[in-house]
Amino acid sequence: MVDLENLRQIFTDLYGQTPRMFSAAGRVNLIGEHTDYNEGFVLPMAIDRHTFVAAARRSDRKLRLRTLGLDEEIVVSLDEERAPRQPWVAYVEGMARVLHDDYGVQLGGSDMIISSDVPMGAGLSSSAALEIAAGMAFLRLSNSKITSTQLALAAQRVEHLYAGTKCGIMDQLASVFGQKDHALLIDCRSLEITPIKLNLPHHAIVVCNTKVKHELANSAYNERRAECELAVSMLREKLPHILALRDVTMTDFEQHKDSLPEPIRRRCRHVVSENGRTQGAALALDDRNAEAFGNLMRQSHGSLRDDFEVSCAELDTMVEVAMSHDGVSGARMTGGGFGGCTVNLVRRDLVDSFREFVGDTYKRETGITPEIYLVEADGGAYEVCERS
Ligand code: GLA
Repeated sequence: MVDLENLRQIFTDLYGQTPRMFSAAGRVNLIGEHTDYNEGFVLPMAIDRHTFVAAARRSDRKLRLRTLGLDEEIVVSLDEERAPRQPWVAYVEGMARVLHDDYGVQLGGSDMIISSDVPMGAGLSSSAALEIAAGMAFLRLSNSKITSTQLALAAQRVEHLYAGTKCGIMDQLASVFGQKDHALLIDCRSLEITPIKLNLPHHAIVVCNTKVKHELANSAYNERRAECELAVSMLREKLPHILALRDVTMTDFEQHKDSLPEPIRRRCRHVVSENGRTQGAALALDDRNAEAFGNLMRQSHGSLRDDFEVSCAELDTMVEVAMSHDGVSGARMTGGGFGGCTVNLVRRDLVDSFREFVGDTYKRETGITPEIYLVEADGGAYEVCERS
């Protein structure tokens, strides 16, 4: 948990001003993986892990940036050309520049201190949470307004331009629009969000961090996206109405799959089937059907492993170990893949036993000590005074 009073005090001591404080959530995706950039459906929830940005205006156009715990201050001038930066600085600086360049926001400089309990680089969208919290700070400090959806789109643009990941819009929307006790069914074409109550009182969402992140994650992600785009251009010869894989039904796929070469055929099958599973999972939640939801999670993992090929040995082991525990209805990798976390639907009364079992067995099989987090669905982005 981030100690907000401590953050406020440190900021005041260092910069001589009382900061305003902004918060955005990490997220875990329950199901609907690699469907967002295919204009399909996703079902993430914001989690009770947040990034906080304490911020105050400056009279010049400089950003003076710190993260709590690191005794280093980075100064960026918004009047100078962009230079290579460490990732967390690039996210904040990128947000300032995108808000200015794409949304015409007239930004001044600011002092900022960042503190977060979203695990970094674990696939729980620590970068989206930072972009959104910093973006909100920039907007409020400069008395500017854009819609919350535009804020999410600006953060996505930062990922494209400053991190080189051609990601979809799921993480940023979840970080902004999260709702307590709800998952969000997001239509990534219309960007319509339908909150779905987590209607499974006897089950908990548990996230298991494999503690690995394979080098190829970024390049392989962009490669998968390109493969999906190639699938669309090939299928358009037979199905001229389609704009994205979202428009391809399972019947279409079965009818035309022979015209697709491998691995494009399997990539396509994953996206088409995952869109169906995601909508089915939202219905299963409504029906309080943990078993059906869990089955869809399991199928999703198999499809990501075999058809989309974005899993890895550690994620597969984590899922297999979890599935062998009695309290588990479903388990799958979550996020982009190639490391990071799994998400598990676990009977609430068996969470401690699950934690112990998975911790020990994964360690025995891989030599790595995992991190295991019980997470609750939480609200999205806000300015701290608005809630307290
Ligand atoms: C990453 C991206 C998202 C999404 C997932 C895969 O988290 O940032 O846009 O594509 O991978 O579902």
